[in-house]
Amino acid sequence: MQTITIIKPDDFHLHLRDGIALSTVANHTAAQFSRAIIMPNLNPPVVNTEMALAYKKRILQCVDGKYNFEPLMTLYLTDNTSVSTIKTGAESNIIKALKYYPSGATTNSDQGVTDIKMTYMALNAMMEDGLPLLVHGEVTGDDVDVFDREAVFIDQVLIPLVKDFPELKIVFEHITTRAAVDFVMESSDKIAATITPQHILLNRNDLFKGGLQPHHYCLPILKAEDDRQAVSEAATSGNPKFFLGTDSAPHTRTMKETSCGCAGIYSALNALEIYVEAFDSVGKLDKLEAFASHYGADYYDLPRNMEQMTLIRNEQDIPDVFPLGDDEIVPFRAGGTCSWQLKK
Ligand code: DOR
Ligand code: ZN
Repeated sequence: MQTITIIKPDDFHLHLRDGIALSTVANHTAAQFSRAIIMPNLNPPVVNTEMALAYKKRILQCVDGKYNFEPLMTLYLTDNTSVSTIKTGAESNIIKALKYYPSGATTNSDQGVTDIKMTYMALNAMMEDGLPLLVHGEVTGDDVDVFDREAVFIDQVLIPLVKDFPELKIVFEHITTRAAVDFVMESSDKIAATITPQHILLNRNDLFKGGLQPHHYCLPILKAEDDRQAVSEAATSGNPKFFLGTDSAPHTRTMKETSCGCAGIYSALNALEIYVEAFDSVGKLDKLEAFASHYGADYYDLPRNMEQMTLIRNEQDIPDVFPLGDDEIVPFRAGGTCSWQLKK
């Protein structure tokens, strides 16, 4: 196949940041995706509908008029999120989900949840209103090996949570392990998962190939080859529980290439093209459209998009860097190539 035409997809997990970073990255996503679930881990975090509405306006101000892009806003769940915050969010029609960061798990998660039990009133309200909980599924704490954090989270947090709230919609974000794939497949249809390009394509050897690779450092961290295979198989399986979420997370080059670098891979520049290449490489191009354009919308009870887009098999170079104010961003697969290209 030399071209593929699909319904314009949605990105169900995206970090756009704010200010100059937002204005630099927003159009990369808008060029490829109709809608995106926008992560609320700003500093300070987006904790109520008013803040989400203001952030949505700032996002739309940065999007070029030629794109018809809709940011789908989320709230950052804290120990103090009230039932009225949930009710206001649900009634507003602006808020599509709440994001649960275990406190200390990742970028700007200091105000995240210290104990899931603290949020039970809010979760109950979300369950009543049909608002999904998006989980960063890792336990924190030095006693757990960094490669085991997702699997331990399933046992310690997710299984009890699903038992206590069987009707709550939960998206297990950016899954990285066979354990997570199995958990999602064995759960009810309330439980779904997003999958990033890096967790389909890379394993933990890619963190150290030829030296330390800070631009492959994200959280949850890349896992072993067996896990990568399980994630790739889930993405390309045609199971509607698994859908596209890039977790594209821009950090400046300075913040990545330093003695204590930030977690996050910036894939938004070529995300769709890279997913296409990944599906093509395992002979599953026929499963791409549903993963990218149907299943996420269906899960969120959103109409499927109408617009179509075409990709062409045509090798393109991925730039080494692009400017961000006085600094730079190093995109995913910088300096490499991608064998598919969006038709302009
Ligand atoms: O690698 C990551 N970067 N994982 C996350 O969970 C957060 C994200 C970010 O915001 O930089
Ligand atoms: Zn994320």
